[in-house]
Amino acid sequence: MSVAADIVPLAQPVLGEAEEAAVIEVLRSGQLSLGPRIGTFEQAFAARLGAAHASAVSSGTAALHLGLRAIGVQAGDEVVTSPFSFVASANSILYEGARPVFADIDPRTLNLDPAAAAAAITDRTTALLPVHIFGYPADLPALEAHGLPIVEDACEALGAAHVDGIAVGGRGHPAAFGFYANKQLTTGEGGMLTLSSAEHKAQVDSERNQGRAPDMGWLDHDRLGFNYRITDIQAAIGLVQLERLDGMLADRARVAAAYRAALAGIEELGLPCEDAGGDVRGWFVFVVQLPRGVARDDVMAGLRAAGVQSKPYLPAIHLMSFYRERFGHRPGEFPVCEDVAERSLALPFFPAMTEGQVARVAEALARVLDR
Ligand SMILES: Cc1ncc(COP(=O)(O)O)c(C=O)c1O
Repeated sequence: MSVAADIVPLAQPVLGEAEEAAVIEVLRSGQLSLGPRIGTFEQAFAARLGAAHASAVSSGTAALHLGLRAIGVQAGDEVVTSPFSFVASANSILYEGARPVFADIDPRTLNLDPAAAAAAITDRTTALLPVHIFGYPADLPALEAHGLPIVEDACEALGAAHVDGIAVGGRGHPAAFGFYANKQLTTGEGGMLTLSSAEHKAQVDSERNQGRAPDMGWLDHDRLGFNYRITDIQAAIGLVQLERLDGMLADRARVAAAYRAALAGIEELGLPCEDAGGDVRGWFVFVVQLPRGVARDDVMAGLRAAGVQSKPYLPAIHLMSFYRERFGHRPGEFPVCEDVAERSLALPFFPAMTEGQVARVAEALARVLDR
């Protein structure tokens, strides 16, 4: 992610000597896979979130897939989920031959609208897959009222907490986290599934390792599995990042507050919703909603000319060509999601971002929008 000095990048991980030392230690230990750091990382992660168990895997997508398998989602099932997400949340449902049934989002939180989700439930619905988009907690208490199994996509929500004070990922449902390089905590690639049941943990640990139970010999497998293993190098980096997490989250919150102040004067620009009702966002990205009628491509080109990176984030999943062709989705089905997806723009956002960089982005955006 190295960029020219005069460019304000979209994202930048915080990595230092402690991560370097941890990696070197693993390399010198000679145990790069299936080693002791994986369990240590899992325990520290679970403890931080108040979860009974955690299983480290190769990606957030792998965590979602194994979470859905753990709760028994099967071919032909329907899983109600959000169309305003990274495509992996819906794809993971397809991996098991189940059908993602989308429901529209709440215009304030951009998360699954509980009323729309309720209306999408049929007698074929076997699970709900809410996404804590942009780190803002989805309304789990409302969704839990249906009594259906839930898998949470918490890939963007490390550090977030619900109204009742429970950390996102600590409610007892399988909850998937992702550690890609732009995330609150990174291992380069990687993921974690928090779990409340020891049986689920045993199943996930076996399925991430080609279906091998811990007490089984090498090359002995008693169920279908995958290679969703994380390495000890990644786990070692994750452990250091976990120690840094409070500081990194505080820095993200500081940058978000600076953005709020710097962008407040730009008319008709939508900002990420403030924490309300006791919910706490775990800051991941700073996504604004451009005023209606503004050409987003022109705004991005103007920002680029000013040395500011930006990205349309996120497109509506149901309108992606693959989903349109496979399920016949058409514009107009989820109007809130579609309106938000057309106007969303992610601005540079990372813990080491300076007030000067925030000001530069805000000035460029105001100039490009002519406001
Ligand atoms: C909402 C959401 N779901 C799922 C994923 C998938 O995570 P990964 O890229 O680690 O597979 C991501 C991250 O990119 C995400 O943002």
